[in-house]
Amino acid sequence: MRVSKAVIPAAGLGTRFLPATKATPKEMLPIVDKPSIQYVVEEAVGAGLDDILVITGRSKRPLEDHFDRNVELEAALEAKGDQDRLDLVAASNDLANIHYVRQGDPLGLGHAVLVAERHVGNEPFAVLLGDDLIDPRDPVLARMIAVREQRGGSVLCLMEVPSDQISLYGCAAVQPTDTHDVLAVTDLIEKPAVEEAPSNLAVIGRYVLDPAVFAVLARTRPGRGGEIQLTDALRELARMPVAEGGGVSGVLFDGRRYDTGDRLSYLQANILLALDRDDLGPALRAWLPTVLDSEGP
Ligand code: UTP
Repeated sequence: MRVSKAVIPAAGLGTRFLPATKATPKEMLPIVDKPSIQYVVEEAVGAGLDDILVITGRSKRPLEDHFDRNVELEAALEAKGDQDRLDLVAASNDLANIHYVRQGDPLGLGHAVLVAERHVGNEPFAVLLGDDLIDPRDPVLARMIAVREQRGGSVLCLMEVPSDQISLYGCAAVQPTDTHDVLAVTDLIEKPAVEEAPSNLAVIGRYVLDPAVFAVLARTRPGRGGEIQLTDALRELARMPVAEGGGVSGVLFDGRRYDTGDRLSYLQANILLALDRDDLGPALRAWLPTVLDSEGP
């Protein structure tokens, strides 16, 4: 069955980014001049997914408003004849068919995915973490969907990280397959200690999941941090036969990716994406060495 739905969990508390996230979801923080979640929605649309469900938390209004029309603003820009800005404002209105559902209590990423069950039904679907930004120049989701179509089961996105950083991620134990960028995932451990990590392959925030994940999540008990962990459900799927919706593959990703919920990674994303822009890149490129070479600007 074709993958056509994307689920974007965006209900976390964003505590690493306080106080900015006190009243604003971290997914609304801009990367250059666009909320980070818009990049994620554009990525899903770019991979052919036109039905998007955003899992929201307490402050969902700004998210909903961003992907809706702002008639007053459009009228004001139209009156000024500012077509360029009008196009920017309108660009997020008709990106896709976007739906919202509340998670209630943020009981973990696994729980957020389970909340999507009613909308997704019995189809394979993609999950894109709202605070995980894959550089638009390095798309990977379409490749993951193709791997799901070939191999069935669920597909993870795996990225090599330095060994001393693996304890920040879910970590995959893998075996090679006939295809150079595809691995068979045999086991998963959430945020392992360095000495317990079976590899330096980190699970990053893109997934293509078989709907069998819902039944597994429904019986998954809270794990690390008292949260219902998606990793624990994926671990069980990795041990189940493909005929029952099990089997987990990993696609190797070596592109640029930023954790926009982490302050340093967020700053890096802003700089790297701004450097790539025609309007901002040249001036930023000229300015950066002057700050780095001196005590201050
Ligand atoms: P994180 O653990 O990075 O998000 O979850 P967080 O809890 O908001 O971050 P900190 O650690 O407090 O700063 C990864 C993704 O899963 C979503 C988050 O919104 C983020 O996109 N998530 C997490 C939910 O939707 N619900 C949850 O219960 C937990």
